[in-house]
Amino acid sequence: MSSYLLDVSNFMLRWLHVIAAVAWIGESIYFVMLDNSLKTPKAEEDRSKGVFGEMWAVHGGGFYHNQKYATAPAKLPDDLHWSFWKAYTTWLSGFALFVILYMANPGFYLVNPNSPWQWAANMTGWQANIVALLFLLGGWVVYNEMCKRVSPNMERDGLLSMGVAIMMVVVAYLSVHIFAGRAAFLLTGAVMATAMSANVFFWIIPGQRRMVKAMKAGEAPNPLDGKRGKQRSVHNTYFTLPVVLLMISNHYSFAYSNDWAWVIMALLIFGGALIRQYFVLMHSGQHKPGYPILGVALILLAFAVGSPWLASGSVASSSSSDSSVVASSDGGATPLARVHAVMEERCVSCHAAQPSHPGFSAPPLGIALDTETQTQQHKAQIQQVVASGYMPLGNLTQMTDDERTLIANWGE
Ligand code: HEC
Repeated sequence: MSSYLLDVSNFMLRWLHVIAAVAWIGESIYFVMLDNSLKTPKAEEDRSKGVFGEMWAVHGGGFYHNQKYATAPAKLPDDLHWSFWKAYTTWLSGFALFVILYMANPGFYLVNPNSPWQWAANMTGWQANIVALLFLLGGWVVYNEMCKRVSPNMERDGLLSMGVAIMMVVVAYLSVHIFAGRAAFLLTGAVMATAMSANVFFWIIPGQRRMVKAMKAGEAPNPLDGKRGKQRSVHNTYFTLPVVLLMISNHYSFAYSNDWAWVIMALLIFGGALIRQYFVLMHSGQHKPGYPILGVALILLAFAVGSPWLASGSVASSSSSDSSVVASSDGGATPLARVHAVMEERCVSCHAAQPSHPGFSAPPLGIALDTETQTQQHKAQIQQVVASGYMPLGNLTQMTDDERTLIANWGE
């Protein structure tokens, strides 16, 4: 029952999370587009009011005329539209999902029993939960300090971007070494998403409040507040596509049950950011197809690294190659009945119409392996997840290397 309630909350929170993210990212993309599309106002009257750029648009059967002021209009209206709830809702619902999905079952979602780092492989569930929270917090602290030190007056943007890029490679590397594959992708995305929301919460919105307060008091706002808001929202823009890519990547186990998962992740991040760069430039009238071509090339390279032909083999499959003798001793291909016997022993506690494993009220991803027919239907997937070591999750049911070899040698 309680796992059913968890499933229902998961379902609804995911809905909220996706909607809030769509609204937030949509608005953020819109404003970057607006900013980059501004043209010098045609009317002298607008220019003399201090309008520095304008954009005319037609949408939903109406005509819109946006104007941006270089500093501030002579008088600020009281009903100024602010954007922050979408960002906060996205983060809060995402964090809540992380709590009920990962932190409620850290033993098999967070802990990486195959980690080459002993301390990480031996973490208890609670330790893993704390390390995951520190990881998110640490990501923000390092990013924020880097911005403050490298670019105290919003200069040296290029150097700062380079620093952020290197930081993301380090985050990807650490996350796959500390956490289970799926969580590693999610947490790397969450480090970026946390920085995005924290940028809004700690810098962009407070800066705008100070600006509005100064203007209302008839004083000149501190230009650094405006510049910083702009700098952080530019970072946010480049984070959007990679974050969404990392968040959905956790449905594709080939990406993370791989020795080079951190390289795949880094390539996906850079690929996403380069594709975003194309659109940012496009809105200011520049077409630089080199960016998306390079971006797509990096993403294809990530898929090549993750492909079964190029992969150097994962932790589990490389160790099982030593025991190939066992499988060949009975003359080659493993019959379905033998494979199914292994499923019954190692998999059906979770993958059954009615799982006996606490924490599951339905078979994960709808994959039930109660009968031989069902096992046969999922052959390709089973071979892939068993070879990569992704299943059984956290090797909770202690599948042996010999059993993995049996599955690898499954006949027709
Ligand atoms: C402790 C519970 C548990 C055990 C034991 C377990 N699984 Fe899973 N399995 C899961 C969960 C949870 C998911 C969904 C993970 C996800 O969304 O990526 C899953 C996903 C899968 C998938 C789909 C993967 C994908 O992303 O396409 C396959 C195939 C699979 N399991 C096969 C197996 C096999 C074969 C075994 C036994 C060797 C096994 N599982 C043992 C919990 C378990």
